[in-house]
Amino acid sequence: MAGGGSTHKELLTAQTRLWNYALGYIRPLSLAVAVQLGIPEAVQGHGGPISLSDLASAVGVAEASKVLALRRFMRALSHFGCFERSVTKAAAGEGQGECEEEEEAYAPTLFSSSMVKDSPTTAAPFLLLATCPLLLSVPWNSLAAWFRGERSESAYGIEAPQGGTFWELLSRVPELNGLFNDAMACDARWAVALLAKAHPEVFHGLTSLVDVGGGNGTSAKAIKDAFPDLRCAVLELGHVIAASPAVEGVDFVEGDMFEHVPPADAVLLKWVLHDWNDEDGVRILRRCREAVTPATESGGKVIIIDIVMSDGSGGGDPEEVEAQHLFDMWMLAIMAGAERTEKEWRRIITAAGFSSCKIIPGLGPRSIIEAYP
Ligand SMILES: C[S@@+](CC[C@H](N)C(=O)[O-])C[C@H]1O[C@@H](n2cnc3c(N)ncnc32)[C@H](O)[C@@H]1O
Repeated sequence: MAGGGSTHKELLTAQTRLWNYALGYIRPLSLAVAVQLGIPEAVQGHGGPISLSDLASAVGVAEASKVLALRRFMRALSHFGCFERSVTKAAAGEGQGECEEEEEAYAPTLFSSSMVKDSPTTAAPFLLLATCPLLLSVPWNSLAAWFRGERSESAYGIEAPQGGTFWELLSRVPELNGLFNDAMACDARWAVALLAKAHPEVFHGLTSLVDVGGGNGTSAKAIKDAFPDLRCAVLELGHVIAASPAVEGVDFVEGDMFEHVPPADAVLLKWVLHDWNDEDGVRILRRCREAVTPATESGGKVIIIDIVMSDGSGGGDPEEVEAQHLFDMWMLAIMAGAERTEKEWRRIITAAGFSSCKIIPGLGPRSIIEAYP
């Protein structure tokens, strides 16, 4: 028995698990390095498994010692499930008798395909945002102080150097604004197209829609592509609109969702409410309810795309539940926001004056919530 009544085996398992968690940050950081080097594109575009030497020359790794480092890098990424690694025995050169050398090659997987930068389902910009130094270090190094009450309640996880909110920080740092908007758009591009295809009933009967906090209009474009007769507008902050290219058929309206939301049959709130605490969430929902109320007879509603957290009873796909908890911690740390359980969603939707709501699961860890005035 080891200390505390545990066996040696149990102690070793616990220590190993702790190492895996302590060093777990290496997974996303290595994926980000792979994206920066263009490895997913090189593997995907080769037309069959790519050998280590071909990969090295495709991504510009020339020195012999660095090619060996690349082999270790690819071995780890393959272990993480990113690539399929194969090892073949190659006959050694003449005069080396029966000696054999091993040759490695790597094939793409669905996972690595989602890191290919210009693929329609790419998540590479999201990966680069999640691993950018500012989001990785600052919030986590201040969270304990926030819990102890040593940081102001009103402070967001990340404060701009001169104070202010996360959105004000983005408005002052164009590179971060670009990184953020690209990360949002890469998700909107495929997730909203998927929603329009899998659940067209969500949009049936609507003649107009406002995407509140709709970023650079990628969601609105996906909806417009699926339902060309639907009038679409995006309500956004000025710095986002200024950095967004025009989207055909989509109007951009600069404004503050806490003040006013333009009237429409439906309002879309994708990945917006999880940025805010309950009090602010209710304020936003009230403005959205006012915007769709005149359209009640033709089916006015607010369409929310966000996580409905598993209630902890043990059901649900373990990978999706893991993603829900990671997002909840992320929102806590960087935005002072929250992912919500069904009960918590119903509470804020009711507090904002809606009469009822419907939850439609089916977007992986996220759901569609329809709230009716
Ligand atoms: C997490 S992003 C989601 C973007 C987009 N809905 C998507 O899912 O791709 C939240 C968006 O809310 C916008 N936003 C923040 N505060 C806002 C406000 N007061 N009024 C309007 N938009 C706001 C941000 O600029 C940002 O684009």
